[in-house]
Amino acid sequence: MPVTMATAFAPASVGNVGIGFDILGHTFPALGDRVRARRSSAPGVSISAIGGVVRDLPLEAAQNTAGMAVQALLEANRPGFGIELEIDKGIPLGSGLGGSAASAVAGVVAANALLDTPRPQLELLRCAMRGEAVASGAVHVDNIAPSLYGGLVLTVGIDHPRVKQIPVPPAIRCVLVHPRMFLATREARGILNRSVDLADVVWQTANLAGFLAGCYTNDLAMIRDAFEDVMIEPQRARLIPGFAEVKRAALERGALGCSISGAGPSVFAWCEEPQAEPIRNAMVAAFAREGLDSDHWVAAIAPEGARVVERQ
Ligand code: HSE
Repeated sequence: MPVTMATAFAPASVGNVGIGFDILGHTFPALGDRVRARRSSAPGVSISAIGGVVRDLPLEAAQNTAGMAVQALLEANRPGFGIELEIDKGIPLGSGLGGSAASAVAGVVAANALLDTPRPQLELLRCAMRGEAVASGAVHVDNIAPSLYGGLVLTVGIDHPRVKQIPVPPAIRCVLVHPRMFLATREARGILNRSVDLADVVWQTANLAGFLAGCYTNDLAMIRDAFEDVMIEPQRARLIPGFAEVKRAALERGALGCSISGAGPSVFAWCEEPQAEPIRNAMVAAFAREGLDSDHWVAAIAPEGARVVERQ
């Protein structure tokens, strides 16, 4: 029996994870987007409904991240039917939590389940990248890849991406605080300098290598020492009211590191489990001193990515 309807869930993501600008991200499973895909006799992709925490998104498939991603999947595979999508947003817009990527990923995973011969993950990644580009104006994979594959994910290359899931020490928890404000990814990318000081490149490279080595060897001290984005965070910090205080609050309570989640304004911290609650409370209080209410979560970085949760 052909599958005529499938719903997929794709988790939120922290991408980039500070030091790995545009290449390193991890899932944040406490929230995510759902997309339902149905076979349709009308050709192409149509979007019948957008609900959840964000409703004001384009219904035109080519201007919608999920719509564009599914369109790319259909163009490559020509299954002989069209697809109608319903999008249920669980991730706030302009939050730095990978919402556009999660919609694109959930869209292609749901649509893939309708195909008589489902396509491999790497093809879904490429299709979802087409969708993400609609929202951010640039092709980057540090939200798409973790949302699709799960866990902490490094992606090397854009035209021929290679994806590697990096082991996360089991003691690690991620504290994520989203101040209730909107920050456009295009704006947060637009302010970045195009050239970088050589000394900063050396420092950033050492930190990224040290961070990955610390993850592979369960060396929390190495992760702590390497957890410093010297290239991007200093440029973006001014876009987030109170960022320096929020970061200081997390580090003073024992966080291994704290940085901007993606393009912001969400801020994340890595820590060991016993420190998670004090760190969360201190970060939320620091935003409150700036007059900003926050949503906040603590989660382990599970290696589980997008998945079909319903099919008929
Ligand atoms: N890596 C991207 C950035 C993510 O930091 O601009 C934006 O969604």
